[in-house]
Amino acid sequence: MQWLLHHLVCLSLQYIFSALVVAAASSQPGATDDDNKQVYIVYMGSLPTTGSEYTPQSHHISILQQVVEGRSAVDFLVRSYNRSFNGFAARISSDEGHKISGMSKVVSVFPSKTLHFHTTRSWDFIGFTEDTKSSRTGESDVIIGVIDSGIWPESESFCDQGFGPPPQKWKGQCAGGENFICNNKIIGARFYDNDRSARDNIGHGSHTASIAAGNKVSRVSFYGMAKGNARGRAPSARIAVYKPCDDSCSDQQVLAAFDDAIADGVDIITISLGGGYHQPFENDAVAIGAFHAMEKGILTVHSAGNFGNEKTLVGLGVNSFVMSGKFPLIFGSDSDKCARTCSDGYLDSKIVKGNIVLCESDMTTCPFDEPLSAGAVGAIALGTNADNSTSYIDP
Ligand SMILES: *[C@@H]1O[C@H](CO)[C@@H](O)[C@H](O)[C@H]1NC(C)=O
Ligand SMILES: *[C@@H]1O[C@H](CO)[C@@H](O)[C@H](O)[C@H]1NC(C)=O
Repeated sequence: MQWLLHHLVCLSLQYIFSALVVAAASSQPGATDDDNKQVYIVYMGSLPTTGSEYTPQSHHISILQQVVEGRSAVDFLVRSYNRSFNGFAARISSDEGHKISGMSKVVSVFPSKTLHFHTTRSWDFIGFTEDTKSSRTGESDVIIGVIDSGIWPESESFCDQGFGPPPQKWKGQCAGGENFICNNKIIGARFYDNDRSARDNIGHGSHTASIAAGNKVSRVSFYGMAKGNARGRAPSARIAVYKPCDDSCSDQQVLAAFDDAIADGVDIITISLGGGYHQPFENDAVAIGAFHAMEKGILTVHSAGNFGNEKTLVGLGVNSFVMSGKFPLIFGSDSDKCARTCSDGYLDSKIVKGNIVLCESDMTTCPFDEPLSAGAVGAIALGTNADNSTSYIDP
């Protein structure tokens, strides 16, 4: 049973998805005006089709200059959107935002909110099974723009064996930054976050990109679970990576990704991010991006969310190893009142020995050491935050 001790799987149960709504900072005594500023998006609709002398960024600065009296507007401009639609992101106060929203040519002004990762279900779920026919030649001209946390270019899912050069219509770039090389499968890369490359550090972007267009990779599994073939719906399609997210993403970065993806000439955009709240379309970065994509005939595929239908599912837990026998499950607090979270030194080894212990604790402080040293054969961590609930194997 030694192996069991070395393979404790920490499962974090998903509770409520808490949407992070960034509210305008409230004035506090002593707070300077700059402390009350946050990033707002000023959305200005389509770019003018006539007037070659129109330069979006100077227009944006002139709008901003009218509200940041006596100071240089350039210092407050975060970025301009000027390739596929018109608008900008700026660090301003809610009063300044309110003033801008009354100006001509401005459609909406809204705080840049935080978006969270969503994940889609398999193609089988929507009826496209592995033997569904697709045309390899037609497909290899299709460019799918993936707006997410980047990509892991060396993954087998994105190997370019058998791919010819990028389609001639492609206008994008490989600007993936440090330690990032494109190939004939990943034909473009750009990033907008604080990392120095379009490389995916958390896996979500590689996952969603492989669902859309990953090569077929045989015999894969998640630490031995869910064994099978991984495959995208369009394995011969090309991928253009846009990375607005590291741990999370902001509206202002997501809009920059749409601005580029549309102008670069992708055929389809896939985005599995969302805020978990409803808002009017003119204040919704994904809706604005998808609208201007559609104007150019580009379809946007957007995840619906991770909320499910609010029903409780009852089932068996999963693990990646064979359990030799059955073990009782006990709650940390059964052994000691202070042991609910399985904190150091609180578990009574006489009680937990030979049991699987349920600990009321988040993944971030996953308490393996304590149940292990107290003689438990396993531990389950009960997390409360669906955002960073994850699977975890020890060691
Ligand atoms: C377009 O926006 C980018 C990014 O903010 C900026 O660097 C560039 O100067 C802008 N170009 C024009 C013509 O406004
Ligand atoms: C998990 O989520 C909580 C609440 O959003 C946050 O405070 C914490 O930093 C997150 N932990 C990690 C490892 O991301």
